[in-house]
Amino acid sequence: MALISKILLRWYAKNGRILPWRVSPKDLKSGKTPDPYKVWVSEIMLQQTTVKTVIPYFQKFIDKWRCVDELSCASEGEVLAFWAGLGYYARGRNLLRCAKELRGRFNSKIPNDKKKLLSLPGIGEYTASAIRSIAFGEKEVVVDANIERVICRLFKIEKPVKQSKKDVKECASQLFPGFHSGDLAQALMDFANSICKPKKPSCAQCPISRSCLSFKYDVVENIPSKPIKKNKPLKMGYVFFATLRPNKFLLERRPSKGILGGLLGFPTTKWDVERNEPTFPFKANWFNTETVVTHEFSHFKLELEIVIGETEYSKFDNSKYLVAESQKFDHLSLPTLMRKVYAQAKINDATLHSNSVI
Ligand code: ADE
Repeated sequence: MALISKILLRWYAKNGRILPWRVSPKDLKSGKTPDPYKVWVSEIMLQQTTVKTVIPYFQKFIDKWRCVDELSCASEGEVLAFWAGLGYYARGRNLLRCAKELRGRFNSKIPNDKKKLLSLPGIGEYTASAIRSIAFGEKEVVVDANIERVICRLFKIEKPVKQSKKDVKECASQLFPGFHSGDLAQALMDFANSICKPKKPSCAQCPISRSCLSFKYDVVENIPSKPIKKNKPLKMGYVFFATLRPNKFLLERRPSKGILGGLLGFPTTKWDVERNEPTFPFKANWFNTETVVTHEFSHFKLELEIVIGETEYSKFDNSKYLVAESQKFDHLSLPTLMRKVYAQAKINDATLHSNSVI
């Protein structure tokens, strides 16, 4: 095994994070085995989300759905409500679809075969190799964005990340041993998080700096080279906070297709690249607060102007909107954008009606 891997594995045994889906190298040695269900759920949650954010969601998820079978019986609404605040909701939808397929095709067991894993919803090359190595101890070369950074620095790969995938995979193959692939992958993840950080890496504390070509040539902070950031387009629209006095308000479930699909929210106009006059969803004494809530999605920024108003049962389609009671309403069931809207709308509503209880 390469010396670098040996050093990293030793570093990991001493400094690795204790994480709820993880089995430490010491426990692995004494015969404890990882739970493939936990490894799968954690890997899906960790796509595009930090370990710190994932931990509480992961723990609650595992308490609620303890195994593939339990998860496969959940409804999409339940999983999406749980996912609220984590973002990238396709992950939650795919997790549920995957659990159903696991039950139907694989007796509710996570397979360790690469082809079978890749045939499942939400599982791509990285996730399949992470599951195989971490959960089943199979030989794999695991490369996520953080490991990519470490490899690029170690081997001084200076091309932009998008053009260096093949080189990175080749260099990573030299590093990954035939065994302990899962430990090495997690060692690299923790090492990338605490030593080989994106900004201000701690090269003075780095146990492999002597083998690092970027350190040798003093270019660590220039690698990986930053892609030129494209400005995200801005979309605009109006969002409607309709109250039913004294203490109720209206929500809708968004259409299952499209952004925030299937999630709860307040009715909005279409999101457009220019600001048009609002088209109101139903009758109410609408008042434009001129308060703008901003939110950044992966592909565009959004500005929604909050319009508030009082309405009555006879003025809206009762089958289309949900009536929520403020005292009982858990704002955590809303996606982040709608949480922001709710917080601002309540302030505006309270200002408008100084004795408001919404
Ligand atoms: N990011 C993705 N997978 C991870 C894991 N298993 N441990 C820590 N960070 C991760």
